[in-house]
Amino acid sequence: MLDRMSEYRRERVQERLGQLRAHQTAETVRHILEFNRTPAELKKELDRFVIGQEQGKKTIATAIAFHYRRLSKALQNTLTRDRGDMESALRRTRTPKANILLIGPTGCGKTYSGESASRLVGVPFLVEDLTKFSEVGYVGQNTSDILADLLIAADGNPHIAQMGIVYLDELDKLAAEPGTYKDVSGRGVQKGLLRMAEGVENTVEVGRERVTVSTRHVLFIAGGVFEKLEHVVTRRMARNHLKGEWRGFLLTDDLVELGMERQLMGRFPVRVVYDPLSTHDLKKIMTASEDSPLKAYTHDLKAWGIDLVVTDEALEEVARRAEEEGTGARGLTGILHRILLEDMFRLPGSFQGEFTVDLATVRERLS
Ligand SMILES: Nc1ncnc2c1ncn2[C@@H]1O[C@H](COP(=O)(O)OP(=O)(O)OP(=O)(O)O)[C@@H](O)[C@H]1O
Ligand SMILES: [Mg+2]
Repeated sequence: MLDRMSEYRRERVQERLGQLRAHQTAETVRHILEFNRTPAELKKELDRFVIGQEQGKKTIATAIAFHYRRLSKALQNTLTRDRGDMESALRRTRTPKANILLIGPTGCGKTYSGESASRLVGVPFLVEDLTKFSEVGYVGQNTSDILADLLIAADGNPHIAQMGIVYLDELDKLAAEPGTYKDVSGRGVQKGLLRMAEGVENTVEVGRERVTVSTRHVLFIAGGVFEKLEHVVTRRMARNHLKGEWRGFLLTDDLVELGMERQLMGRFPVRVVYDPLSTHDLKKIMTASEDSPLKAYTHDLKAWGIDLVVTDEALEEVARRAEEEGTGARGLTGILHRILLEDMFRLPGSFQGEFTVDLATVRERLS
């Protein structure tokens, strides 16, 4: 029957299918196209997950809200002109990008805030460890890997993939030794990253299909500890008789002094220095953050009919111990596990009701 279908009908069917596809494409990116959260709204939502880091959350929420609002407006404009072709809209749209640099001690919420924000916007989030890059010494292969990983994180949707967030972890590991030529590879990787942050395009093979993915609209967040940064900034401040909180005086020059490429740093104009987490923050993370390790344990025990209660003094002690460990909020999970391990083994099936962990329990289990 099919071969009897007239040319006219065939064209109509093709046209309809095309429309349907365009419609489906538009549906999957609708939340990005219609992004309209304000920085203040985004920050308020971030507060449910990330505790403390007020300045950091404010800066990230603003940068991300502006990035996606700008992108959505630009895409809408191009789409109305091109009548629904997302592919060319993504290619033709030009938006200035303000990538983010997050500096701060380990476990203080750098990766976590990027991840939480991307979840709130509804875009894929990809963490790439840069130490892997410096081993290879060049970015070429890694660039295609990153594009492929983005595609995977976007469940194979190339449009969504191109609007995701890539978190470049351990940026400071790429720093060249100041004054030496030792680290040619670190500098090489930094140059490659520069191009990627600007926007590179490549084809990724998916089965028999080849999909073109570009990083033009991808927002990059780079994170690093930069241990010596405070020293470098305060020394410069002393030299120039500047007074105040060092973080407010951070310049590109300081990062260059630590071995970063000036051009690369120029592509990360939004910068925040995160605080080390205090005992107070760590305690609040356990009780207030929506996916805190304590809440996870409480939830798990509940499934066995056990209501876990941790006294305030016990929480304080756990937070204090975590602070001593110096791994930020990461320490909490391990400490809580050490405290609860015995009961998690013993209680299910043999006990139901309220189970209290007090200061004495904590001290006993951690001794
Ligand atoms: N400020 C915070 N509020 C709530 N939870 C936090 C916070 N900081 C860290 N956490 C918790 O600790 C975990 C580790 O934090 P994260 O991965 O963000 O560390 P990081 O700052 O990226 O450190 P690193 O430099 O080692 O990569 C998070 O997954 C989260 O559960
Ligand atoms: Mg991290």
